[in-house]
Amino acid sequence: MKFEPLNIRLKNGKTVQIRQGIESDAGELIHRMKEIFGETEYLLVDEDEFNMTLEQETAWLKAFDDVPTSLYLAAVYNDKIIGTCGIVGNVMKKMKHTASIGISLLKEWQNQGLGKKLMEESIGWAKKNTDLEIIWLDVFSTNTHAVSLYKKLGFVEEGRQKNFVRLKSGYCDKITMSLDIRQ
Ligand SMILES: CC(C)(COP(=O)(O)OP(=O)(O)OC[C@H]1O[C@@H](n2cnc3c(N)ncnc32)[C@H](O)[C@@H]1OP(=O)(O)O)[C@@H](O)C(=O)NCCC(=O)NCCS
Repeated sequence: MKFEPLNIRLKNGKTVQIRQGIESDAGELIHRMKEIFGETEYLLVDEDEFNMTLEQETAWLKAFDDVPTSLYLAAVYNDKIIGTCGIVGNVMKKMKHTASIGISLLKEWQNQGLGKKLMEESIGWAKKNTDLEIIWLDVFSTNTHAVSLYKKLGFVEEGRQKNFVRLKSGYCDKITMSLDIRQ
């Protein structure tokens, strides 16, 4: 096991477990991710574009076990996955010191401190258990909540592709941010 499960108390008073995602979560995850994709415009995938089969989702979860610099965390409340955070280690030799990170929560569980905690735990794990040097992510410029969270955690803007994202409400930039975890 890469990550020891832990319980955290959120601002709404509820206690949520953070644990590693496992292959048997695949079915539940398909439902939850579809729900999350339908609730937000800040993720690249739209609800109708998410068509993972149980087999594909299981294989996708297994890949996190197979790569030493990858970790998939799930936040669980009453057996329901309410949010996830994944670190995906790059397997190419020239970029093995880097990993991307992605996070998403169900809407009703946002703004309770869970996103920050999931990111902190993931980054803390990477610092302690891997030789990763850089963790990076892409974020839409209109997603001010996420940008503010990432800045708070020490991420800095590395690049920006203007009007790279077309939302229903108009164009926005795609920002690449990274965190140097060597210190
Ligand atoms: C972005 C997301 C992961 C943040 O998680 P969260 O649990 O809602 O955020 P938290 O409650 O942990 O808040 C983290 C910080 O964001 C800031 N914040 C909270 N609400 C905010 C808002 N409405 N606007 C700007 N900043 C805000 C606060 O500074 C907070 O830090 P603090 O608790 O030290 O004050 C979550 O809202 C989410 O899943 N959104 C939809 C999917 C998504 O956008 N994923 C990221 C794609 S790049």
